[in-house]
Amino acid sequence: MTWISTYQTEHFPGVKALWSEAFPNDAPWNAAATSIAEKLRFQPDLMLVALEDNHVIGSVMAGYEGHRGWISRIAVLKSHRNRGVGRELLVEAEHRLAALGCIKVNLQVVESNSQTVQFYENSGYKIEPRISMSKLLSL
Ligand SMILES: CC(C)(COP(=O)(O)OP(=O)(O)OC[C@H]1O[C@@H](n2cnc3c(N)ncnc32)[C@H](O)[C@@H]1OP(=O)(O)O)[C@@H](O)C(=O)NCCC(=O)NCCS
Repeated sequence: MTWISTYQTEHFPGVKALWSEAFPNDAPWNAAATSIAEKLRFQPDLMLVALEDNHVIGSVMAGYEGHRGWISRIAVLKSHRNRGVGRELLVEAEHRLAALGCIKVNLQVVESNSQTVQFYENSGYKIEPRISMSKLLSL
């Protein structure tokens, strides 16, 4: 049986292994140790895991900055894909964002991962004409 739960520290090894499998060419600033530690400082209830027999089989990070909600890092173990786990994670993240007053959710998909667009479209997301930009802040 699968259930969605708020991330707890004991889930770290499972999420780290999941991310290594799901995001093999990840940027160094997405490393699990630093990303999850930072997420736990801000809206820790928006870091979710999917569990089966207490093992992490999926995870998602969401955030709300008072204007838009954001979904990122959604992943499901290859062995557990196409069973609706990704959608369960997405829907629970949306419920938690909506409960905070969020009315619109944004997300980004890297161009090389365009096959994932269908997953989001099947859950009601639409492609918007935007240019995505970013900047690394060095302190
Ligand atoms: C994207 C991902 C989380 C989907 O998880 P999942 O558990 O397999 O997805 P679900 O089983 O809940 O699928 C929900 C729907 O999306 C569709 N879908 C899922 N993955 C799809 C894909 N790669 N291509 C086309 N459709 C897909 C399913 O067929 C299903 O359709 P339905 O509406 O007819 O039921 C998973 O493929 C994954 O971990 N990918 C690697 C990490 C990644 O790229 N994350 C996204 C970063 S932007």
